[in-house]
Amino acid sequence: MCGIVGYVGSKQAQSILLDGLKRLEYRGYDSAGLAMVTSDGMTVSKSVGKIKELEAVLGEEEIVSSHGIAHTRWATHGEPNEVNAHPHIDTNGDIALVHNGIIENYRTLKEYLAQTGCVFRTDTDTEILVHLIRSYYTGDLTEAVRIALTQVEGTYGIAVISTAHPNMIIAAKMGSPLVIGHGEDENFVASDVSAMLKHTNRVVYLEDGVIATVTSDSYDITTIDKVHISPQIQDINWSLDEIEKGGYDHFMLKEIHEQPTTLNNAIRGRLNFDEGNARLAGLNLHREELLNVDRVIITACGTSWHSGLIAKYLIEDLARISVEVEYASEFRYRSPIINEKTILIAISQSGETADTLAAMREAKQRGCTVLGVVNSVGSSIARGSDGGVFIHAGPEIGVASTKAFTSQVMVLTLIATLLGRMRQVSVQRGQELIQKIEEIPSQVAKILANDETIKKIADIYYNADNFLYLGRGINFPVALEGALKLKEISYIHAEGYPAAEMKHGPIALIDDKMPVVVIALKDPVYDKVMSNIAEVRARSGQVIAIATEGDTEIAERVNHVIYIPETDRLLTPLLSVIPLQLLSYYIAVKRGCHIDQPRNLAKSVTVE
Ligand code: AGP
Repeated sequence: MCGIVGYVGSKQAQSILLDGLKRLEYRGYDSAGLAMVTSDGMTVSKSVGKIKELEAVLGEEEIVSSHGIAHTRWATHGEPNEVNAHPHIDTNGDIALVHNGIIENYRTLKEYLAQTGCVFRTDTDTEILVHLIRSYYTGDLTEAVRIALTQVEGTYGIAVISTAHPNMIIAAKMGSPLVIGHGEDENFVASDVSAMLKHTNRVVYLEDGVIATVTSDSYDITTIDKVHISPQIQDINWSLDEIEKGGYDHFMLKEIHEQPTTLNNAIRGRLNFDEGNARLAGLNLHREELLNVDRVIITACGTSWHSGLIAKYLIEDLARISVEVEYASEFRYRSPIINEKTILIAISQSGETADTLAAMREAKQRGCTVLGVVNSVGSSIARGSDGGVFIHAGPEIGVASTKAFTSQVMVLTLIATLLGRMRQVSVQRGQELIQKIEEIPSQVAKILANDETIKKIADIYYNADNFLYLGRGINFPVALEGALKLKEISYIHAEGYPAAEMKHGPIALIDDKMPVVVIALKDPVYDKVMSNIAEVRARSGQVIAIATEGDTEIAERVNHVIYIPETDRLLTPLLSVIPLQLLSYYIAVKRGCHIDQPRNLAKSVTVE
């Protein structure tokens, strides 16, 4: 979604703002712009497309200013063009504003402002906000922003500057992420810490409903009702290397290859071999409270929703607790049945997904205990949960989620083991699982070393128009994830199906042009899946099988095989997904697609 960067200090702002915008490129956007206060007044530059287009507009010579705001836009209201790109300015051109979110009552506000003589230049919902601030401005910019925000319905993360206050940025947040970066005689505002990490790792995450007055050497934070808030400075332990490509062609490939490390990080200190159990201190729930749970609701979006589906199999199998998995966007608008024995698990890489955040809040309002399975430590979901487990995957920059998915599944496996050991899982079964869990990172490394096989398969099928992904049981969600990965980055239509369900419809699509990826592991449904493969082959479908090492029969019955090491059946998704990630990656590369920033997509979906 939209990205915001603001700088106030003594250095040249332009290069800091442009570098910050580049760091936010991964979030997905269609246009960009920046505004700076100079000795001649406000200067605004905008462009459609990548940041390098904006650099071209700005030209060689740097604008002299040490105070500005910048923005990458992901269009919601008004098409992506230069006029609609942020920053937006008031009629006099003295105040500039950037915004992430949606002003839901903008039509009403626009009518009101039009009556006062305001002239609108754009089709955006955002522009009304800068005019509204102007209309309340009598010398105190913070106060004008505060009054304007009392009129607004919707979500926002904003940064505002004015020529009348050449050392000040006003930042405010409601539902969209915003962070202050604390530097030496300089301060930053951004929607994501990666935009400021080069300059500082000391940050203050803003809460909803606050306004911050940021100058080069201070920041004053109050609620919209003027109650003073003491800032909590946090140190970010991400390094700059982690947000750079490190020799890989794309962030996605780097992140796929990081999985042996990130999975180790997800289990570090959390495996208790003697007791065959997981140690998860962050849950913040007593043993009695965990024993009391008789229903789990899991809510998430996209890839995180797929890891939730896998968790259903894990928790139901190990703990015999009934689990519902629901898209966050649906959960929030129904009337869920929740009681004191229900817990809700919200899964999110970014911790800022608007629908997941709203679903979590809805559940909390109904008195439900909410646990977060989150990657971004300072994120809204992490801060808003009653407890939870961080997945420790490090920054994920590629829009297509890979390492976050496997780390989510790993952490959810640990939660299921813990709940299971409190109920019906024996010490011996627990120990078996914990030992197998410890082997997973090196098994993932082994699959990654085989990427030449996968590349060759990609070379054969990269021109296909459709793909089908089939899996059964705990590997059915992996089929969904494989299909999502492919469509996201290669724009090939792909669908995931439970293997046996294929004959109830999708079989009609199968012909000799249809590649069908089948997860066919040596597990209790192996023979059934082999029958499904025979049905595809009988109609000339091209089968790419993900199979268990040592399976000697399968090669004769399919067109291609990718082997993965043997593990416990409950842990197989952690391995079976790896070839699917690589297959989508190599197909997309072959098709010349924008791997890390696929069209129309955003990394962190902070609007409904
Ligand atoms: C996955 O590849 C996606 N780009 C997307 O589906 C993502 O998983 C979804 O938007 C949820 O994001 P979150 O985990 O940050 O909440």
